[in-house]
Amino acid sequence: MYDLLIKNCGQVVTMSGSMPRCGKEMRELAVIEDGFVACEGERIVAVGFMGDFEKKSGYFEGKIGKKTRIIDAGGKVLLPGLIDCHTHLIFAGNRAGEWREKLAGKSYLEILAGGGGILSTVMATRAALKKDLLRSGLSHLREMLAYGVTTVEIKSGYGLDLESEMKILDVAGELGRVQPVCVVRTFLGAHVVGPEFRGEEGGSASDAARYLKYLVQKVLPEVRGKADFVDIFCEKGAFDLKQSEKYLRAAREMGFGVKIHAEQINNLGGCKMACKLGAASFDHCDHLTVADIKALGKLSKGAKGGKKANFCNEPVAVLLPLVPLFLREHVFADGRAMIDNGLAVAVSTDFNPGSCPSKNIFLAMSMACLKMGLLPEEALTAVTVNAAAALRLFDRGVIEKGKRADLVLFDVQNYQEIPYWMGDSKVAKVVCGGKVVLTAS
Ligand code: NIG
Ligand code: FE
Repeated sequence: MYDLLIKNCGQVVTMSGSMPRCGKEMRELAVIEDGFVACEGERIVAVGFMGDFEKKSGYFEGKIGKKTRIIDAGGKVLLPGLIDCHTHLIFAGNRAGEWREKLAGKSYLEILAGGGGILSTVMATRAALKKDLLRSGLSHLREMLAYGVTTVEIKSGYGLDLESEMKILDVAGELGRVQPVCVVRTFLGAHVVGPEFRGEEGGSASDAARYLKYLVQKVLPEVRGKADFVDIFCEKGAFDLKQSEKYLRAAREMGFGVKIHAEQINNLGGCKMACKLGAASFDHCDHLTVADIKALGKLSKGAKGGKKANFCNEPVAVLLPLVPLFLREHVFADGRAMIDNGLAVAVSTDFNPGSCPSKNIFLAMSMACLKMGLLPEEALTAVTVNAAAALRLFDRGVIEKGKRADLVLFDVQNYQEIPYWMGDSKVAKVVCGGKVVLTAS
């Protein structure tokens, strides 16, 4: 018997099909006009047309009973729960003062080189109690849920020593247990060189090498079971290409999935390197050239080999349009060229106190359309099925029988409106694991 039936949906945007969606497949949303979705426990058990629902007598016999919660969507639009696949949401303090300095002319990398930026959040986060990090994490997740986000990736990286990184990963684990949004954990100890390893020059290549050795030998073994992915910031002032490759290889050998922050401010070749290593995603990508994008398109096709049961381990390009917006950088990733060259693209907020203090996934979608060249269909694919693939979660991001019942009902007439209302949330209801967890007032 159904536990939940959502009927009379003007559109059910199922996203059913290949995972991830590459290139022009990103425009195929597999929409059911005038549809329904039924769930039992945590899973979706039926998806179809209202016509079938009404006409086929006996079709639903025994499926709807006293314990079935029936929601009449009244023509609203149903999507898979949104997935924010790149955030740094556990941190203490904020960097509003630094933002002012930036507005007055300082650059992100200048602030970082002066011991501010990421390092100032590290000091605040080290000093914070677990319960305070938990409280702020809960409030961030509550706001994300209101944006229809049902799965979120959380990176560590504001601890930069064993104890503080473990504190952050433990808080992320606890957050996943105590509220409805699913949490995926990523270890980003290699965010910048830890304070204890910074010599006179404040993070030279040899400091970075010593710090990464410490992470591999002392920290990564402790991270097992506490994070699915290992990530690194491959950038001037953080870690160079060679160091990043060596580190990600070591992480991969220890059984972690790998990810990279690359080509955000400078083009060091991190995306290509990570792609060759079989990374789940390469994130930022603002400074990739069209020639790089073409090469990545070819490389990622090579990764399609293991395709089975509609999904494959294709690396996903995760675009973070709110970051260049907030940092006042003028270069945005060329999402259009990426899709036209067959890449699988996801979009995320990158919520963090330094480069994107916004959790607004709708604004990220709108900016991906306006500044990166995505079409509305592509932006929706980028925050559902492709964001799931960036986390190697193949049980969500689509509305299909057997998948997790994470759903969002939008108070719009057509899915195109979702990225159109530029940062406005049209969320009417959110379902996590088959349970209605939010109804907008
Ligand atoms: O993804 N680029 C590196 N890390 C974060 C920013 C972190 C910070 O500035 O605190 C990012 O943009
Ligand atoms: Fe990031």
